[in-house]
Amino acid sequence: MPGLAEKLGTLYDYLLPYRRRLIQAVVLAVVVTLIGLLPPLVIKVIVDHLLVGGITWLFWPMVIALAAVPIINQLVGKAFRLLTQNTAAKLTFDVRFGLYRHVTALPLGYFDKHSTGMVLERLMGDVNKFQQLVTGQVLTLATDVVMATFSIYVMLAINWHLALVLLAVVPLYVLNHRFFVRRIRASNEQFRAKMDDVSGHLEERLTGTALVKSYGMERTETRNFTVETHAALQHSSRARGLMVAFSNTAELVHWAGYRGIFLLGCYLVIDGGMSYGDVLAFTSYAMFLLGPAVRFSQLVNQIEQTMVSVRRVKELLGEQPEPDRGWVVNHPDASFRGRVQLDKVSFAYEPDNPVLKEVSLDVPAGKTVALVGRTGCGKTTLTSLLYRFYRPTHGRILLDGHDIAELDLGTLRKQLAVVPQDAVLFEGTAAENIAYGRSNATREQIVAAAKLAEIHDVLENLPNGYDTPLGQAGAKLSGGQKQRLVIARAVLVDPVVLILDEATSSLDTESERLIQRALRKVMRNRTCFVIAHRLSTIQHADLIVVMDEGHILETGTHAELLARPDSHYGNMYRRQFARIGRDKEQAAAVA
Ligand SMILES: Nc1ncnc2c1ncn2[C@@H]1O[C@H](COP(=O)(O)OP(=O)(O)O)[C@@H](O)[C@H]1O
Ligand SMILES: [Mg+2]
Repeated sequence: MPGLAEKLGTLYDYLLPYRRRLIQAVVLAVVVTLIGLLPPLVIKVIVDHLLVGGITWLFWPMVIALAAVPIINQLVGKAFRLLTQNTAAKLTFDVRFGLYRHVTALPLGYFDKHSTGMVLERLMGDVNKFQQLVTGQVLTLATDVVMATFSIYVMLAINWHLALVLLAVVPLYVLNHRFFVRRIRASNEQFRAKMDDVSGHLEERLTGTALVKSYGMERTETRNFTVETHAALQHSSRARGLMVAFSNTAELVHWAGYRGIFLLGCYLVIDGGMSYGDVLAFTSYAMFLLGPAVRFSQLVNQIEQTMVSVRRVKELLGEQPEPDRGWVVNHPDASFRGRVQLDKVSFAYEPDNPVLKEVSLDVPAGKTVALVGRTGCGKTTLTSLLYRFYRPTHGRILLDGHDIAELDLGTLRKQLAVVPQDAVLFEGTAAENIAYGRSNATREQIVAAAKLAEIHDVLENLPNGYDTPLGQAGAKLSGGQKQRLVIARAVLVDPVVLILDEATSSLDTESERLIQRALRKVMRNRTCFVIAHRLSTIQHADLIVVMDEGHILETGTHAELLARPDSHYGNMYRRQFARIGRDKEQAAAVA
């Protein structure tokens, strides 16, 4: 099926292993449907040949036939359902697994441009839709086509005049259905959208109860809530009204059609054109036709909607993963010492908007370099480039003489660790969180890292020690404690290059002092990039790099830079110092 393969793209590859089972499922579905279509014919035989014709030996065979149909139908039907459900579950698993693996291999830039919610929706919602298409909608379509074809065939065979009359009634039924269902769906969607608004609003207000109360806004909020829920109520009443109208008209058409056909049939019996068994069989098949007729028009719609999901999954699968050449150094014993060189590195997130401009820097192994400069001058971006989260537009970055663009990505990232401003903890125990970057670490190693990061005492005193759950639902650690736990995590992987990106900026001075002590131990014998606003924390760096709008303005040690007559660093330092002095004076005055 080349057309299908093209429509599904790489998703088609996921179907291939299940092709045989899917075809089996379709065949079984068709068999089950056909068996289910037999009873009216059996009844026709009973009426025409047994009752009217008087062929009495037909009695038991017909009884057996009537009894066998539901039994076979049940057995085959159950087997069929099991088969399809299992296949569906496996297929969904495969697709979701493949998609997740693909998503994890995408470059960070992809996540800058696409929201997490959207990626999540593709992984969960859209993959489910794909499953529905393969195992639900396609099967329904197949069985409906069989049901409709068979019914129409039998009806034409019984009496083609009557069949044509019926085929004229069916569109009426379908039109009625389409008219109402579209409106009901719209009302329901409006209702749901309104309710989403309401619960979103409610969540905000409930979490912000203190804010609401502090401004005395309870009454206003209650009024807003009433107005919103009232609108929702109106949409749902409208939907209910439409439902009643729909089922009334549908029943009316159904009833009129059924009775009309029956009466017409009876007339034909009297006229001699049809047997009474024909009439019974005919009316049954007429009813069999209504279901598929209505479903068909919906199904086309549904499949169209599902194809939107399929297209989105296909698109995501088509995104290029992070390039990983890895042919220079990817043997595990390659040892790095930590010399980092930037050679005229330029970079831009968006074309025409350069963030780094020809930055050159040579950091000897084991030294500490501090990056200072205004917010937005490109400090974090520079460290992201070390990780190869993004690639420089020009220039090269070397780690111990190897161009990092040519290193194996895993090897490169194993040499680095970052302590960011906001500590991220995952669900899991304290020990698991520390060992995140090195899952085979022993408890001794974890404890050693925690001691180095000065968090050991805190963790030991948690209810279950290192095995206490942290994260969203876990024990609450203070900002400084979290930060030290993240430092332990970084230390445990024993990185050659450690990056501290405003690691202490959001902490109070007391926690900062503790962390500084931890950091001093951790920073020994590694190359460190320290980004900090408080210049007091970086005075002892081996090299201070002052950046501005993607340029390096000046470099030197604290003493060197202060000694220069009009150095930017000197100005910054004196300003901060003056402010701290003022704060201290004020504090003294207040006291
Ligand atoms: N993921 C991103 N996508 C696009 N622009 C970004 C992204 N991250 C940072 N920027 C922009 O790049 C510039 C440098 O940012 P950043 O490196 O975070 O600065 P700093 O860490 O020095 O405060 C800023 O103008 C910022 O808006
Ligand atoms: Mg930053």
